Parts: sequence; structure tokens; C-alpha cells
Amino acid sequence: MTSGPLTPRRAVLGLLLAGATGLLTACSDTPRSIGADRVRAVEALRATTGRTLRLRLDAGSARVDLGAGTVVSTWAYGGVLPGAMLRATAGDRLRVTLANALPEATSVHWHGQAVRNDVDGVPGVTTPEVGEGRSAELDFIVPTPGTHWLHPHHGVQLDRGLYAPLIVDDPHEPGDYDEEVVVVLDDWTDGLGPAPAEILRQLRRGSGAHAGHGMGGAGIGASPWAAGDWQHAAHLVNGRLGTDPVVTTVRPGARVRLRIINAAADTAYRVVVGGHRMSVTHSDGFPVVPVEARCVVLGMGERLDAVVVLSDGVAPLVAAPESKPGLGRMLLRTSPLAKAPDPDVRPGELDVEPLTGARLHAADAVRLDRRDPDRVEDVVLSGGMGSFTWTINGRAYDDTRPLRIREGERLRLRVVNHSMMAHPLHLHGHTAQVVRPDGSGARKDTVLVPPMARVELDVDADNPGAWMVHCHNAYHAESGMMTRLEYVL
Ligand code: C2O
Ligand code: CU
Repeated sequence: MTSGPLTPRRAVLGLLLAGATGLLTACSDTPRSIGADRVRAVEALRATTGRTLRLRLDAGSARVDLGAGTVVSTWAYGGVLPGAMLRATAGDRLRVTLANALPEATSVHWHGQAVRNDVDGVPGVTTPEVGEGRSAELDFIVPTPGTHWLHPHHGVQLDRGLYAPLIVDDPHEPGDYDEEVVVVLDDWTDGLGPAPAEILRQLRRGSGAHAGHGMGGAGIGASPWAAGDWQHAAHLVNGRLGTDPVVTTVRPGARVRLRIINAAADTAYRVVVGGHRMSVTHSDGFPVVPVEARCVVLGMGERLDAVVVLSDGVAPLVAAPESKPGLGRMLLRTSPLAKAPDPDVRPGELDVEPLTGARLHAADAVRLDRRDPDRVEDVVLSGGMGSFTWTINGRAYDDTRPLRIREGERLRLRVVNHSMMAHPLHLHGHTAQVVRPDGSGARKDTVLVPPMARVELDVDADNPGAWMVHCHNAYHAESGMMTRLEYVL
């Protein structure tokens, strides 16, 4: 893998072209990969604001304060947890310097953004990794409005503190709210438990503190939304322990837009605001028909926006890990004098049947046009039976047969979960639509698929390249549960 100072565009387009040439010499009925010129042409057609944002992402070791006197060493962006919010307007050009002071190579992926393929941040597929002590320039248009985030696409680095919100405003859809609060959820191990690489080793050995009751499964009687295998030492909201949470002050009666991001490596969360109802407005950055909920559940990688109007006092926002002990919290305070609720208060809303992203309906403006798919591909999720190996269509990633698509087609992914736990399936470069008979399914890039369940997703092929499709459980992805969606000619 090339690393070090590079002009990403040239380096990666080279990689794509090499791929195309390689295939030319293969047997004649092998479809050819789409070329770099087409990737570039699609970028040139994107709507732009004419504005350029320059920024730096410094990936490095950091000491972070989780609260309650707990200071730990981890890897983070800019030394803070979560990394500083990156905020842009759809159509802005981003010129990002990724500086790598980590003791190993890294990359950055813009989760939820339908970016140009060669900046998608997947070493070996789209974007060269950035070696230890090196830096790289990434230059691209940020196309997708909404609540998104960024993280490395390199081994299990995601389970450290390397994540930051990426909020993209839509000038055409300003939203109906007065204030906003970004809420980043994370399962935490650094400084309190084994390092992520050690967790992966222990999971593969079949030892260690499984959250479930058996190898690679959440166990009988576990929640259908449980999507993790490891009992992390703590659950953080905006980088803080539940016993010493972030306290945010908002105006009483204000419409507060929560932008909730599940940045965990191995944990789905149900989220409530004690004593309140939320109006869910967006899923994975895309507007939905607003719906009231007392409890929502987010798989790893998913985002949900919800508006809440706070009554006087202090409301606990609580994130409960599915089928694992512990609680993450933050406090939303409207009056300086109100007494904060006790840290181990478990709001009753946590026991309500949670609303999931896949049950939402897309707002009219973002529904795909009604049309039959041009091709159908199966995505069968399985594994975890007797060994910590996870597969898509019966194959681990090393041995994968990529899904294929032609530009302009509509692809239907028939996702079937043949395992005993939930998996948050994530698609790069596109936002699919959950298939419903009336065409109203939510737009999603990450869908939490419960055990033995089936979900169908329609994808319009409008962003050529080679794209990852994978489980957003970092340990499952590293243990095989990934494939690619490749554009062919
Ligand atoms: Cu959030 Cu493949 O990534
Ligand atoms: Cu999984």
C-alpha cells in the first residue's frame, strides 16, 4: 500500500485505472471496472457553493478526561474527544490535511457522504493509507446534507477515540428548530480495558468477557437489536462517563434538535430523554415524515435527528447499551437551579418498544422515484457459529465476490440475516431506500438488521467507483463481514 505524501487524486485514479487494465486481460465476459475519468466526470457535475473550507485533521495519541477523575490515553483527532465538529454546507469544497502522528498507518472515511470514490478512505480499495508520521491532502466536494461523521477505515482504530461529527447544512432544508445539540455515543475501552487489537484477539480466541452468552452471539433472550460481543468498560456520551456527564444548557420551551450519532464499535444503543417525547425528523441525514417516539434505537454508524421541547428542569438523555450493562448519559438543563437527577436513574422510557430507523418513512422530497430494480443481489449475513468468523454471502472478505452494478441502474439488495444477532449493514457512497410496497421507506446508509430478519434496500447507481458494503461492528468487519459494490461498464 502506498503511503506518505501524495496527491490522492493521481495516486488513486492510478489505482482504479490499474484495476481496469487488469480486468481487460481477464476472460472476455468479465465486466470491466469503471474508469477514473468517469469518477472525475461525476464530481464535475456536482452542485457547488463555490466555497472552499481548509482544515486539518490531526490523528495522534492523546490524554483525555472522561470525567469523574478518569483520565485515559487514547488516539483521537486534535487531542479531544469527540473530535471537533466539522461543519460545512452541501456543495462546499473541502481541502483536508490528514496528519498522522499515530504509531501506525491510518485513513479517514466520511460516513454518510456520497463523496468522490478516490477520497472515500478505504486503503486498498479507494484511497492509499497515510503512513505513520506522514500526511495527505484530500480535496473534494461534500455533497450530502445532514448529520454524518468521520472515522478511520483502518483495522479496529474506530474503537479508540478517532471520531468526529460531520454536520452538513442544506440551504434548502433549514429544519424547524431553535437550538441544536450533537450527541455522540461510544463504547469505551482505552485505559479501562484491553486495547482494541487485544479485544479482537480475545474474540477470535473465543475467550474474554462476552456480552452475550455464547461465541459470537448476543445469546438467547437478548434484545433483537443487540449487535455486539464485547462488554466495554464504559459508555460515553460526548466523551464523558455517565457518572460525570456533559451538561448542556438550553432555553426552556426551545425546540432542540438532537443530532444523535452512534460512533461505537460494538454496541447498539437505545436512547431516551427522560420524561419527554422526541419528534424524529431525520435518519442517516435524510428527512423522514416526523414521528413521535419515547425511545429510539441506533445501530453502530447510524444517526437520528429528533426535536425535543424541554420542560423546566434537568432532563437526562440516556443511552442504554442493548443487552449490555452500563448507561451513557448527558444532561439537558433549562434552569440553573434545578437539581440534576441521580446518575443511576433509569428512565421508564427505556422499557418502551424502541423506534428503529428502518421503520421510518422518507419525506416526499427524498423518496426515490417509483421504478423496478434493474438487478437484484443477495446480501446474506452469517457467522459467529463456533468461531468468530463473519461472512457475507458465505464468504469472508478475503475471498469475497463483489456485488456489481452499472451506472444508472437501480439495484435491489436483498439483505438476509442468518445469524443470531443484529448487524448494522453500511453502504458507502450512496444512501439506499428501505423497500416498502408504497415506496415510502426511509433513506438509509446504515440499517440495523435483527437476527433472522430480512430487509430490502434500493440503491440508485449514481456515484461510480468501488464501494464497501459491510457490518459496522468493527470486530465483525475485521473478521470478514465486508464486501464491495463495484461499478462495471
Ligand atoms: Cu462508517 Cu465503512 O464505515
Ligand atoms: Cu455484524
